[in-house]
Amino acid sequence: MTTENILITGASGQLGAVLTKALQEKFGVDHVVASDLRSNKDYEGIFEILDVKDIEALKAMVAKYKITQIYHLAAILSAKGEEFPLMTWDINMSTFFNVLEVSRLSNVKKVFFPSSIAVFGNNIERVNTPQDSNLSPSTVYGISKVAGENWANYYYKKYNLDVRSLRYPGVIGYQSLPGGGTTDYAVDIYHKAVKQEPFECFLKASTTLPMIYIEDAVRATLELMDAPAENISVRTSYNLSGMSFSPEEVAASIKKIYPKFEVSYSPDFRQDIADSWPMSIDDAQAKEDWGWKPQYDLDAMSKVMIDNLKAYYNSVIA
Ligand code: SER
Repeated sequence: MTTENILITGASGQLGAVLTKALQEKFGVDHVVASDLRSNKDYEGIFEILDVKDIEALKAMVAKYKITQIYHLAAILSAKGEEFPLMTWDINMSTFFNVLEVSRLSNVKKVFFPSSIAVFGNNIERVNTPQDSNLSPSTVYGISKVAGENWANYYYKKYNLDVRSLRYPGVIGYQSLPGGGTTDYAVDIYHKAVKQEPFECFLKASTTLPMIYIEDAVRATLELMDAPAENISVRTSYNLSGMSFSPEEVAASIKKIYPKFEVSYSPDFRQDIADSWPMSIDDAQAKEDWGWKPQYDLDAMSKVMIDNLKAYYNSVIA
């Protein structure tokens, strides 16, 4: 059996922190290198400061740890990206090119590239958005993800580099906070509820978006990366569905546990971004190719979010 050595970029981010632990469990703590621009003290194991824009530094890291798989999570998200469009394009693209090039020229055999519902824009069917939709993204983040998907496919075809990718919906978890996304409200709302504070939402009450509980998102990632290569028919990026809800629906789910929870609505520029995205996703291809099946619906997620955040805030106060 070959030993896999894993490098994660963006390991201090919302998804990276949780994916790192899952990869440590799967491959062993000594075989997983978490990296980011800043450290995250939340987990044991190997951590390296790494700026993926620096190709020499990335090359050295891959050589030092004999890396065989890279999970490239470092990126600027949709809302933050609109503040600095050219810098976002530069960071999102140059880091991915560095990962692709270093992988092609080294022993890295597999690469994971996270794409997003942000690849979709106007001209889509917003309900059950199909895999093969017209992609005309409204944000620079979305443009960089569409380009990334096509480069993933290019490196697979031209260099036989096994790049795999998922179009994540908004990811919701209690373990870590998102930063700079349009779906971030759906994490913040749980923190406010548990702290028994009112919540002001930056989207309209009825704005339905595709979302996924973080445990499902991590499991989807591991299952995709584990699937036999011949099963992977999509070499750009797979549509992935968890659940879909609006702010008023998540508020209603929370109110089953906190009946006095108050939410007000004050939409900002993120409303336009959300309005350009799907309401729900058709992920039939992921189901067919590698057996994808989400486990969490809205109420199941609300329970686990609230239970864990309660324990967290009680321990902070204690
Ligand atoms: N959660 C991301 C965002 O809102 C979507 O990929 O930017």
